[in-house]
Amino acid sequence: MLKYKNPFSKIIESKQHSPVYKMHRYFARRPHNVFSELIKHYTEEGDIILDPFCGGGVTVVEGLLLNRKVIGVDINPLATFVTEMEVLPLNVEEFKTELNLLEQRVREKIDYLYRSICPECLIVPSFHNLDSKSFLDWVEWENGDIIRCKYKCSQNHSGEKYPDDNDIILAQKIENDFKEIVTKEQLLYPKQQIPDGDKTRSIIRKGYNYFWQLFTKRNLIALSILKREISKVENLEIRKFLLFALSGTLKWASKQSHLRGNVVEGWAMHAYWIYQRYLEINVWETFIKRCKSIISGKESVRSLSHCKLTTSFDNILKDASAMILNHSSDDLPLPDKSVDAVITDPPYGGNVNYGELADYWLVWLNDVMDKSKEAVINATQGKNLEDYEDLLLSVFKECNRVLKDDSPLVATFNSKDLVIISSFVKSVVKAGFRLMDNGLLYQPPIKAYVTTVHAKEVGAFTGDFIFTFCKDNSAGELNIDVEDCRILIDELIEKHAITAKTEVQMRKWFYEEIIPLFAKWAKSPDGWITDIAKYAESQLKKQKFEGLHFKQARSIAR
Ligand SMILES: C[S@@+](CC[C@H](N)C(=O)[O-])C[C@H]1O[C@@H](n2cnc3c(N)ncnc32)[C@H](O)[C@@H]1O
Ligand SMILES: [Zn+2]
Repeated sequence: MLKYKNPFSKIIESKQHSPVYKMHRYFARRPHNVFSELIKHYTEEGDIILDPFCGGGVTVVEGLLLNRKVIGVDINPLATFVTEMEVLPLNVEEFKTELNLLEQRVREKIDYLYRSICPECLIVPSFHNLDSKSFLDWVEWENGDIIRCKYKCSQNHSGEKYPDDNDIILAQKIENDFKEIVTKEQLLYPKQQIPDGDKTRSIIRKGYNYFWQLFTKRNLIALSILKREISKVENLEIRKFLLFALSGTLKWASKQSHLRGNVVEGWAMHAYWIYQRYLEINVWETFIKRCKSIISGKESVRSLSHCKLTTSFDNILKDASAMILNHSSDDLPLPDKSVDAVITDPPYGGNVNYGELADYWLVWLNDVMDKSKEAVINATQGKNLEDYEDLLLSVFKECNRVLKDDSPLVATFNSKDLVIISSFVKSVVKAGFRLMDNGLLYQPPIKAYVTTVHAKEVGAFTGDFIFTFCKDNSAGELNIDVEDCRILIDELIEKHAITAKTEVQMRKWFYEEIIPLFAKWAKSPDGWITDIAKYAESQLKKQKFEGLHFKQARSIAR
């Protein structure tokens, strides 16, 4: 039994990301208010929380906001960079001053790349006078031609226009002069090849072999000028935050951006992807937006300005508040039984290939990721379901070692696939945990997520299950008859098929019954749970749900 409480049982309306999480994209960020509630429920002020898969930093930030001490670990350097910047104190005034100095150094050069004539006042861009100028906010390309652009001018005009001769000639000139500009300006941009991968192969097939090819020449130049000038900033803390803003800009700066209606959308897919009509955004304008978002993000978490970061556990026991480690969590530099709660969100099979996707940012940050221990299903990396499960198992064993005996392991899990869920459950149970009675709870998703391309594309089980485990090193329940399990699965599916109107509803009801049973059977020696889960998946896929409008299906899913 846990020291404090029964498992968390509240259903919470997930909120959109708050400003601190809007500073920089990370994949699959979980709703901050749900994590805040979990932290309040399972821990007390001063307790030490571990998140061994800290990703975009939700447990770390929410824990610190609630005066807990937090250890966030992730194998992906992008995750730990983002998390660190979320909690590292920033002197906003100094940041603004350095930003102004940076603007003086680069603005003219970058604006020059996007100069354009405003069709309303016919301002011909003069870049020696920053008060009188007009420039392109974005350019839309199709088959090598500019088909539309958006202009802005110093008279506050802005709108869309067809490209005029100047716009076409300018783009052509930058393309032709690229090498010369790079040499003259001594620009460094990523030269790495895009590694073959499950999520990179489609773009490589289209002829994109290097990361730089994902950018227009104009944007490559603008990004490299910014990077060069940021590296000259002497104040290390401010330099890191400016680099963070540049990194945040990358979501929009490549050809992976596009227009959805009138809205500029940056790269949001969980695969590399260039639309037939892609967008070239103005790097400086986007960079400034990222800087503003960092300022509001930091102002929204002012109480973290006392936050002291460390890389040593001894300091956590003293006055440090957070430890952020770029490390695989199968080997944690933490003493036995030192942590009051593990609160985490593990990777979901092959749903999101964090490492492959993060490479896009890491090549700009001069960082690399060793993916060998990344817990993921990825054919290119030679990792199948068993490998994924083994990697999870090794992390959860470490969690078991560092957790105090009466402390919980709480995990959200976002997958629709019962085989993946069963692997996750199996790995936790085999690591020496037991799913608590009432330790499984479904949380509906953030409304906006239900309609994301990704959710629709993979038919993701858009809500999260929250699992509460406690330590249990007993042998577990064995000797279950496989045939009996199949019969039970058929009966459960049949029962829910009568009333379930959507696949999501069906899965939710079925999972609420079957997952706790999987957790009980997980220690069975011959590992037949995967087979049973595969059988259940195949039976579920046979179910048909027809005639529901998507909106209707969505309201039921919630
Ligand atoms: C689902 S994400 C976490 C998202 C996070 N909850 C958030 O809200 O942003 C899972 C994370 O696990 C990390 N990961 C995978 N294998 C790992 C390992 N062996 N050690 C540490 N982190 C790992 C991935 O890099 C990824 O960031
Ligand atoms: Zn104008």
